Amino acid sequence: MLDVDMLITKAKEARERAYAPYSHFRVGAALLTQSGHIYSGCNIENAVYGASNCAERTAIFKAVSEGHSSFRALAIVSDDEDYVFPCGICRQVIWEFSHDIDIFVCTADGSWQRHNIKELLPHAFHI
Ligand code: THU
Repeated sequence: MLDVDMLITKAKEARERAYAPYSHFRVGAALLTQSGHIYSGCNIENAVYGASNCAERTAIFKAVSEGHSSFRALAIVSDDEDYVFPCGICRQVIWEFSHDIDIFVCTADGSWQRHNIKELLPHAFHI
């Protein structure tokens, strides 16, 4: 059973650990694996801006490096009043591991919408 509120709570906890001294835009993500594990992540910025990492990829890379590469759901939250959607690079990384993952985009005040990676990344690149 997918507990959306719990996944969002984990994303909010991760948002508290964001390292975003340049943009001041904190993001947290929580990833539910098919085996029921949850990996969270925050954005981690760098003085060399291109070396920064998004919250979603932090969570995915943590999971994959721990042996979990099959995913069921991902929740994303920032401090913004608007829904936060994954960037293009993160969509491609999500697609690499899951073609049927639910993505819960949230607002800071707790509203959420459910989307699917197939909808967010149509005609994805693959080899
Ligand atoms: N960011 C994320 O972590 N995830 C998103 O979905 C959108 C953008 C980060 C990257 C950067 O650290 C900051 O938000 C501003 O772009």
